[in-house]
Amino acid sequence: MTDRVIQLVQEDARVIPLNTAAPSQPSNRPLDVRGRRLHDLRISVTDRCNFRCVYCMPKSIFDKDYTFLPHKDLLTFEEIERIAREFVALGVEKIRLTGGEPLLRKNLEILIEQLARLNTPSGKPVELTLTTNGTLLPKKARALKAAGLSRVTVSLDAIDDDVFRAMNDVDFSVQQVLDGIAAAHEAGLGPIKVNMVVKGGMNDHQIIPMARHFKSTPHILRFIEYMDVGSSNGWKMDEVVPSARVINQIAQALGPLKPVDPNYTGEVAERWQYLDGHGEIGVISSVTQAFCKDCSRIRLSTEGKLYTCLFATKGHDLKPLVRSALDVHDVNQQLRHAIQNLWAVRSDGYSEIRTAHTTQPRDRIEMSYIGG
Ligand code: GTP
Ligand code: 5AD
Ligand code: SF4
Ligand code: SF4
Repeated sequence: MTDRVIQLVQEDARVIPLNTAAPSQPSNRPLDVRGRRLHDLRISVTDRCNFRCVYCMPKSIFDKDYTFLPHKDLLTFEEIERIAREFVALGVEKIRLTGGEPLLRKNLEILIEQLARLNTPSGKPVELTLTTNGTLLPKKARALKAAGLSRVTVSLDAIDDDVFRAMNDVDFSVQQVLDGIAAAHEAGLGPIKVNMVVKGGMNDHQIIPMARHFKSTPHILRFIEYMDVGSSNGWKMDEVVPSARVINQIAQALGPLKPVDPNYTGEVAERWQYLDGHGEIGVISSVTQAFCKDCSRIRLSTEGKLYTCLFATKGHDLKPLVRSALDVHDVNQQLRHAIQNLWAVRSDGYSEIRTAHTTQPRDRIEMSYIGG
């Protein structure tokens, strides 16, 4: 190992030590200060999107004068793969590609092929998933599957065309997304999860029609509480529809539901199944029932900054390290130590303390930049 060390500096100038080995932990798997393990890496591959969802990339801000990241600032596929490889060596078992809209990134299949080859220390292939608005799936689903993608999650906020067009704000139709879901299903990218962000006063009257549409299909519809992520959506607590209300409404309209055990510790969705055996739904209650306690997620932004919380205001820039002139082996070793040390000091729990925070303006990261 070289004695040259590229310092990893947090945006508030706190230096994360890099060249010291991380505190020893069983099987080398880092735990954070609250004992949470590192399980899930989300990689944003572009900050661009072909939608302008009112709660995520409102047109008033993301207009023709908005400056997206220049291509040279994006991590290359090789850089992403090197970083991901170290995460997987440290125990990450699931990688999710996000955006913006990840399918807008050119030749994404090449990255998927590279990531699909990664194996966990116990020899299992990493689970590789992607969150998309679905519009490019008819064109790309087969190639994504062939490249090694395990499954997809598709966002769809309404089944009524007028409501959906008002939410994506660029006139995409519901049918285009349904065609994308069908293409993903045919390509074998299931089980497909469908994410609906519920914004009170905007699409809450779509809860039952959406549930009715997806009941008896193999797809799992999940209702997401609208969050105060970023600073451009003008979030108000009274626009949040609590998941408990969603479940009650559906049970009344479509028949009784029973809760089901999570697939893994730290799963964000609470699972419910129809008692008649005709399908599963989920609710994601990050506002009314924060799930920080088991949060095992870390996020890598398009330009190479690591965020230990969706609501973090400061990232840790890995680009100087991955683009340094150091020997590849040394860079990889330093990356691993950086990740271990960063996770070891992590204490995030924004959703748990949301109320206190939302009383003050903060410089939050946009969801389209960091990914859901
Ligand atoms: P699977 O269940 O494995 O398919 O994935 P997932 O539910 O972890 O991923 P997905 O990207 O579908 O997440 C669904 C939604 O949950 C996101 O769009 C966010 O709204 C919310 N969410 C995901 N991760 C977090 C998180 O770490 N913190 C908070 N507060 N919300 C999150
Ligand atoms: N609150 C909740 N979920 C959000 N998403 C984007 N913005 C928000 C928000 N403010 C979700 C999208 C998609 C994923 C990328 O993130 O609906 O499912
Ligand atoms: Fe694009 Fe998804 Fe944001 Fe909508 S929620 S603008 S589809 S990134
Ligand atoms: Fe994890 Fe932060 Fe979300 Fe809590 S708010 S669940 S710590 S990402």
